[in-house]
Amino acid sequence: MEIEFLGHAGFLVSEKEHSLVFDPFLSGNPLAMRKPEEIKPRYIFVSHAHPDHLGDTVLIGKKANSVVYTTFELAEQLGKEGLDVRPGHLGGKQLTDFGSVKLFLAFHGSGIPGGHACGFVVDVCGKKIYFAGDTALFQDMNQLSKEQIDVALLPIGDLFTMGPEDALEAVKLIKPKYVIPMHFNTLPLIKQDPFQFQRMVESETETKVIVLDPGKTFTL
Ligand code: NI
Ligand code: MN
Repeated sequence: MEIEFLGHAGFLVSEKEHSLVFDPFLSGNPLAMRKPEEIKPRYIFVSHAHPDHLGDTVLIGKKANSVVYTTFELAEQLGKEGLDVRPGHLGGKQLTDFGSVKLFLAFHGSGIPGGHACGFVVDVCGKKIYFAGDTALFQDMNQLSKEQIDVALLPIGDLFTMGPEDALEAVKLIKPKYVIPMHFNTLPLIKQDPFQFQRMVESETETKVIVLDPGKTFTL
């Protein structure tokens, strides 16, 4: 499995014939190395409607005919814009042709009236990814330790999401094999040193931290 960091909270995951994108914010992202036209995912996952997450979903999804997984309210809006949506909601799991997707809690605004932000637990051919989206730390992340997460994608930027100290606590609750930090350094307001986060996590837990620059790939 290849996991490419697109910058901010964007990831492109490739495994066998499957290609998945999380929160593709490329246009207007000062750290993005890719243009939306270059990305042709079969599946798009959108955690919430804030512009730094919804990003280029409509453009990419229409061009690539992607299937979009998100919460009900946002799916309704994206469906009206012509996207092929698979609405779900918090706690709900769907079987898919790559495996499964479950919408997990996220404590954060949805960016859309009546909606809720979410995270995703995605099983791709037996490999499990937890994409946290934008969230605060919460104790129920300990439910994820039962899922045996291979890779957790966690925000560390602080201010709008968990900062490094809370993300360390999240790692202790989730117990993933690997964690890739995200949602930092896109703007001065969320400046963080990911290598300091790496040292903290690796000295206090069994989890390995993979620090990726935008455009770089981790192979699992
Ligand atoms: Ni947000
Ligand atoms: Mn955000």
